[in-house]
Amino acid sequence: MTGGRLRIEARHLTKRFGDVTAVDDLGFTVEPGRITGFLGPNGAGKTTTMRMVIGHIAPTSGSVTIGGKSYREFADPSATVGAVFDAASFHPGHSARNHLRVYAAMGGHPDQRVDELLSLMDLTGAAHRRTHGFSTGMRQRLNLATALLGDPRVLLLDEPSNGLDPAGTAWLRSFLRYLAGEGRTVLVSSHVLGEVQQIADDVVVIRQGRLVAAAPLAELSGAAPAILVRSPDAEALAQVLVRRPSAGPIPRVERIGPEQLRVWGPDQAGLADLAAAHGIRVHGLTTEEPDLERLFLDLTGSTR
Ligand SMILES: Nc1ncnc2c1ncn2[C@@H]1O[C@H](COP(=O)(O)OP(=O)(O)OP(=O)(O)O)[C@@H](O)[C@H]1O
Ligand SMILES: [Mg+2]
Repeated sequence: MTGGRLRIEARHLTKRFGDVTAVDDLGFTVEPGRITGFLGPNGAGKTTTMRMVIGHIAPTSGSVTIGGKSYREFADPSATVGAVFDAASFHPGHSARNHLRVYAAMGGHPDQRVDELLSLMDLTGAAHRRTHGFSTGMRQRLNLATALLGDPRVLLLDEPSNGLDPAGTAWLRSFLRYLAGEGRTVLVSSHVLGEVQQIADDVVVIRQGRLVAAAPLAELSGAAPAILVRSPDAEALAQVLVRRPSAGPIPRVERIGPEQLRVWGPDQAGLADLAAAHGIRVHGLTTEEPDLERLFLDLTGSTR
């Protein structure tokens, strides 16, 4: 890899398609030398955002830059950013090798690079086969090979684990770790937390086009624990809590049964005191270890 480390920065990034606001005032950074997971439920705006990073579509407003420049300002974009999108298609009659040679020619890369990548992606044996007979895993690897032709410093992968078996996913994970270890910037989208949890150093979570969290994964999973409250007056307690009982942020409350709440924000003592102050009966308080899956569902609004 030649050249420096490139940070991706989105600022007030917005994309509207008619009435649909796919990406809404989004700001985040993606650091070089790390793997960043880009998480959000279906339709959250992940693909749209990634397409704006590589200049496939123009933002309605705001900007996204790579090392301070927009994609179009790079003299040799394929040596800067490689991207793999879900719906990438191959000419079905082409062999893997021909497919790569066409793209290599377009990017001005030598044919030798094609053979290197076929070998790196474990596709040498299939190099002369037509791509229409390829398995999902082979397609994903051929996609990845195409994106890597220019030895890019930034790699964007849109849902790369889709359709991969566990061995394929494990291979992808170690490969991306290796690329990030070389100082490359790696952004990987997924709607499945578990995938990102296994692979990412940092996470950017979006929902309905808006940022809901951006943090190192360890920080996010170390987020404030929840308190499980058993109370015959659960509803009254929920009302008191969301009315902002103290000067701090509004506690988050999840109703998990007629007599049970899950509460984020106050600690056990604060919660018990608050209940006592309002004459609310509490029959049990348990602190729950933070559960990243729950946090993700909660952040992305998938629990309701
Ligand atoms: N070309 C387009 N024209 C109109 N609406 C679009 C277009 N592209 C995306 N959208 C809408 O923008 C929103 C975000 O879509 P996007 O594909 O970016 O989400 P996503 O997070 O990638 O979802 P998924 O997990 O399903 O891939 C959706 O409501 C989608 O219907
Ligand atoms: Mg998508």
